[in-house]
Amino acid sequence: MKPVGLDIGTNYTKTTADGKDVLLFPSVVVFGEEKDWSLKKAHKDVYIGQEALDIVQNIENVEVLRPLHEGRLMHKSYLELARYALSSLGVNEPIIGTGLPVKSSRQEREELTRSLESELNAKVILFPEPVGTLAHMGVETGVCIDIGFGTTDLVVISHMEYLKGDTMLMGVDRLYENFEVTIRNKAGISLTPEEMTKLLTIEGYEIGRIRGGKRISVKHEAIIEDYKSLMVSWVERISNRAKMLMEGLSTSIVDKIVLTGGGAALPGVFDEFQQRFEDVGKIIMPEDPIKANAMGYYILAKVFSEESSGEEKTAKEEKAEKGKVDKTEKTETKKKGKK
Ligand SMILES: Nc1ncnc2c1ncn2[C@@H]1O[C@H](COP(=O)(O)OP(=O)(O)OP(=O)(O)O)[C@@H](O)[C@H]1O
Ligand SMILES: [Mg+2]
Repeated sequence: MKPVGLDIGTNYTKTTADGKDVLLFPSVVVFGEEKDWSLKKAHKDVYIGQEALDIVQNIENVEVLRPLHEGRLMHKSYLELARYALSSLGVNEPIIGTGLPVKSSRQEREELTRSLESELNAKVILFPEPVGTLAHMGVETGVCIDIGFGTTDLVVISHMEYLKGDTMLMGVDRLYENFEVTIRNKAGISLTPEEMTKLLTIEGYEIGRIRGGKRISVKHEAIIEDYKSLMVSWVERISNRAKMLMEGLSTSIVDKIVLTGGGAALPGVFDEFQQRFEDVGKIIMPEDPIKANAMGYYILAKVFSEESSGEEKTAKEEKAEKGKVDKTEKTETKKKGKK
């Protein structure tokens, strides 16, 4: 079986079959309806990723499914995204390492594992989301704060064992909600989350709309100060919750505090965390915080597949050993019988 890392997030799905190259696509599923006309004669039942996003942006009244909403699992779309990820990677019979929010229910976890295993002919090993990044960074004892689009997930592990964790419904979406209002008040235009990410992360970026026969636009430089004050209070709320979780922990565990997820890559977020945790411990971040969970899940899936094939081997060896013993026993009894 082939190890695969699969991180299905609220906003993006990240997947890898070699632990290095990570394929990323929007976590969007659209079930196609029969159209009046089909020009390509290629009607599909289901659209995934970028293709689905294009449909959503251009056609109204289509049913859009995202796998996670406010940290809860939408089952059907999760399965479609996993199927699409595996076919894009060209993998059959995978061992999938994947994650769910820390506070997902036991029922969600069991159902997900069962349906992925039966529908995709896979073996599934499931972790609390941030554990992927910790495995990627080789941290066996530490804290991880994963700021995703829909949730922020926190875990504390010791010697690769889960100690405690939490899920906050305070992802990048909460920051963007407030930021969107600011832009609307300032420039009179509404932006999608994808547009806001570009506006924030690319210097000199400008985005515009035609309004009443005129061009209206906003520029990175014009909004970055407004963003900063919103970001600071957003980070404050996340870090207060993280500090609450860390209260009473041994300092040896808090030695390494890892910040990950796309939220960690937004401007100023890392510095703000560093300042707020100055008296607690050192904050570190993976090189690519959006893809780090997927790369870590791959490592964990690989370790698992090696261990289980090792176990299989030992079981076979044991059987062979036993076979030998049985044979000797039999010959001995035969000999005895002859006597
Ligand atoms: N260079 C970038 N490109 C794309 N998104 C970025 C970039 N830098 C920061 N981001 C932010 O990262 C977010 C996605 O983060 P991430 O992929 O970790 O979320 P997710 O895993 O989909 O969500 P969740 O973990 O809550 O389910 C984007 O919505 C965007 O706001
Ligand atoms: Mg995520």
